[in-house]
Amino acid sequence: MGTVPSNPSWNPLMPNTEFISTGFHVPERVVTNNDLAEFWETSDEWIQERCGIQTRHWTERGGETGSDLGLKAAQSALERADMDPSELDCIVYATLSPEHFFPGGGVFLQKKLGLTGIPALDVRNQCSGFLYGLSVVDAWIRSGQYRRVLLVGAEVQSPALEYDYPEGRNIGVLFGDGAGAAILGPAEESDRGVLGTNLFSDGRFAEHLWVEGAGMRRYPWVSHEDLENRKLYPRMEGREVFKHAVNRMPEALSALMEEHGVKAEDIDLLIAHQANLRINEMVARRLKLRDDQVYNNIQRYGNTTAASIPIALDECARSGRLNRGDLLALTAFGSGFTWASALVRW
Ligand code: UT7
Repeated sequence: MGTVPSNPSWNPLMPNTEFISTGFHVPERVVTNNDLAEFWETSDEWIQERCGIQTRHWTERGGETGSDLGLKAAQSALERADMDPSELDCIVYATLSPEHFFPGGGVFLQKKLGLTGIPALDVRNQCSGFLYGLSVVDAWIRSGQYRRVLLVGAEVQSPALEYDYPEGRNIGVLFGDGAGAAILGPAEESDRGVLGTNLFSDGRFAEHLWVEGAGMRRYPWVSHEDLENRKLYPRMEGREVFKHAVNRMPEALSALMEEHGVKAEDIDLLIAHQANLRINEMVARRLKLRDDQVYNNIQRYGNTTAASIPIALDECARSGRLNRGDLLALTAFGSGFTWASALVRW
């Protein structure tokens, strides 16, 4: 445990936000790199060398939805906290792969949890969605507006991959399906919980990683032409995204560390968004962190977008890699571009 001061703005009427529990769930189907090589021109060697991914989990076609995965992740977190869903007073649901154009997935998760009346907020900040959500939840809990908030990142991305199209490999080898959940509430001690978050975005790069159609910017909002021109699938300028990711995440986290008087050696654990193992190795190097200060699980799950941080968090919390009092650093980067970081005294 480091010697980082507690949150200087702590006040008993505005408590810190602590993680009460976490949970995650991934679909049963494991897809290997060799499985992908059956329909895309790719190889296990290329994927492992460029991204570090060995396997990912995909739903069965037409199977589980994001809110189904989110429900299982939430149930696991509720069980760990020994809480009933009725004790929740708010849901925040982050995804880039909504199961319907509208309404957002949060209300579907709410229905599956058997809850009515409490608010369900949807966050659409892609790979940064969990940290954007955490920042909002932190503000609500500090202000006393809500006391038991379920924050979920859930993604079913496999239906939006182009299995029958050679260029589909560009994004297809990266993405996995899964969900992670956290239950957050006010901390009793001033020196525990979320110490701070910072959020950033830059819309100049919106078209570097996006799905161009369907959408209300177009008339008609979905068309055969869009389908034929493959406008309904994600597109990414991989190298450009890579270049920004390796700069923006360390910048964000360094700024937050400086604000809170945190040095590299104080950090017990860094969990960065799992987009590419090479990105995360560069991020760790730039932050001057040793390998034993960093956790990655992209090898097994691929890039699960808004779910990647809470899945890794739950694995660390349950395996003893993350313990009470540890200083946890989180950072993410993705489509938008959006990026964010957080410091948490676990
Ligand atoms: O989570 C949201 C944020 N997303 C990210 O952070 C992803 C950021 N980008 C990346 O991680 C990397 O750019 C990729 C992993 C997507 C691609 O790696 P890269 O080293 O940037 O490869 P590249 O796109 O520059 O392509 C290098 C070569 C090309 O062949 P030539 O032109 O050198 O002959 C590609 O056609 O690799 C080829 N290639 C592939 N080969 C086998 C591209 N994708 C594949 C593939 N399998 N899946």
